[in-house]
Amino acid sequence: MPNDTVQLLQLTDCHVFSNPSANLLGFPCDQSYLDILEFITPDITACHALLVTGDISQNYTTESYEFFFENISRFNKPVYVTAGNHDERNKLKHVAAQYPLIHLSGTMLGKWRLLPVNTAIPGKVHGEVGDLNALESALEKNHTETQNHILLTMHHPPVKCGSQWLDGINCRNADAFWEVVQSFPEVKLVVCGHIHQALDVVQHKVRVIATPSTCIQFLPQSDDFALDAPHPGARKITLLPDGHIATSVKRLTDKGYPQDASQKGY
Ligand SMILES: [Fe+2]
Repeated sequence: MPNDTVQLLQLTDCHVFSNPSANLLGFPCDQSYLDILEFITPDITACHALLVTGDISQNYTTESYEFFFENISRFNKPVYVTAGNHDERNKLKHVAAQYPLIHLSGTMLGKWRLLPVNTAIPGKVHGEVGDLNALESALEKNHTETQNHILLTMHHPPVKCGSQWLDGINCRNADAFWEVVQSFPEVKLVVCGHIHQALDVVQHKVRVIATPSTCIQFLPQSDDFALDAPHPGARKITLLPDGHIATSVKRLTDKGYPQDASQKGY
């Protein structure tokens, strides 16, 4: 692979508590987060950076962010974070500021520019790109100055995943988002969370991927809320300097995590 190939790992929707006895629908989120970190340790060691695409905390506490950042920081890799609807932005920012390798802003990765796009609206489960003008300005600046490939990270996917209940709480101004993005062919990849399942589609010539949660999974193509097998995961993403992308999902399938599949929501 070329020297300036970039290796990334994405973790998303961890919903941690900083309380080992707490659970989400019976699922031990703190334990599965630690298990995933252990499972992908060789991949983290080999990667350039980690992407975290929101829903870090399930209980919105300072302690949950400390637990999350403390454990991910021990790998000494930069971590680029986008907030989700299950995040308390002020606490997230406050705790993140105590860790020099945790970033809430974008960066350059080889020939790629990473731009985080906030879609979380305080108090709402659905999302919306909050500042399309800022996104357009950042894309315009890249276009006129460098024309690097662009990777956007955002919690709520700007595409449908085929589950009615999830498509009702995705990014509501996706059409306006695409109208902006389509003017910039440098945008090659959008990396999302929120839907607790793997997705890999192309929309308006842009690859859009979502990733299993590190805790509960939602059943793909289900019109109503339903849990899938308790197999948490993470995603490897390889960005080549010519704009090509390679990606794969890794899952933990042998832990036998408990979960209460009779629940009708979360
Ligand atoms: Fe989530």
